[in-house]
Amino acid sequence: MKVLITGANGLLGQHLTKLLLDKHYQVVATSRGESRLPFEPSANYTYHPMDIADGMETAAIMNLERPDVVVHAAAMTQVDECELRPQQCERVNVQGTSQVLTDAETFSSHFIYISTDFVFDGERGNYAEEDDTKPISLYGFTKLQAESMVETSEIPFAIVRTCLVYGNLLKGTRSNIVSWVKQSLEQNKTIQVVSDQLRTPTYVGDLAKGIALIIEKKATGIYHISGKDWLTPYDIAIKTAHKFKLDASKIVKVDASTFKQPGRRPLKTGFVIEKARKELGYEPMSFDEALNLI
Ligand SMILES: NC(=O)c1ccc[n+]([C@@H]2O[C@H](COP(=O)([O-])OP(=O)(O)OC[C@H]3O[C@@H](n4cnc5c(N)ncnc54)[C@H](OP(=O)(O)O)[C@@H]3O)[C@@H](O)[C@H]2O)c1
Repeated sequence: MKVLITGANGLLGQHLTKLLLDKHYQVVATSRGESRLPFEPSANYTYHPMDIADGMETAAIMNLERPDVVVHAAAMTQVDECELRPQQCERVNVQGTSQVLTDAETFSSHFIYISTDFVFDGERGNYAEEDDTKPISLYGFTKLQAESMVETSEIPFAIVRTCLVYGNLLKGTRSNIVSWVKQSLEQNKTIQVVSDQLRTPTYVGDLAKGIALIIEKKATGIYHISGKDWLTPYDIAIKTAHKFKLDASKIVKVDASTFKQPGRRPLKTGFVIEKARKELGYEPMSFDEALNLI
């Protein structure tokens, strides 16, 4: 079975590519610009530069490869950048998804869209799939618009919402909460970390496994795929410091209101993952267990 991944240079894309190759799928990795993946072309693996904001390029690659499954992970993921460059955010997250989806409808039999906890307003937290969405940032709004488009698709689709993903890139550098805390403390820097937001942080390997289960089971509908521990960024930072024997006294507890950022973040998110457990057999590691893999 041939699986095409968009945004394959990113944190999720790299780990999903590796997992699917390990499972002997034929993988077509695509992303903006040159490959940053640590794999050589082979009978089972190809990389194509594919900017999803470029309809001609996307159509040409999709027509060339005609994948059975598309995992659409590419997005403009920086919340503040989306507020500062709204047209580009809309172009990538909404029009880009529309383009990939249209091509998938011609060639593919399963479309898997990667979405976010930022489709919720964060008033309540611990969200289930059927809870009301209400984004409070442009990033969240564009991801929800893309979800709505996917839900009208003519081919079977799954929407995977995930939350605060962490882990090491296989190649290259890109910061996430765990790597940022670890690097900062290793450099003896004092860091301010928010203690009034709640998330269910997701180890990237678990997220990739959840998506692989959706592919294997040809599952459709919305799935919340995240970690199982409800933690604040401050909790995450303290656990990270202890795990790597770093100086936790350098971590200063602050409220989210301390930071004046262009994009608003929902206060309490985090997911109920019972549907994924029951229907997919998804079972994530605890945060402490996943830290052993970093
Ligand atoms: N990370 C999280 O905490 C989190 C939480 C909830 C949901 N998500 C969702 O999960 C998905 C994967 O996120 P991630 O953590 O892997 O993020 P990431 O590391 O930022 O990866 C996104 C990838 O998309 C690529 N991309 C951006 N614009 C593109 C375009 N126009 N055409 C093609 N590729 C493009 C990026 O390219 P460059 O590398 O060149 O920038 C990057 O490689 C995203 O859809 C995101 O919205 C992530």
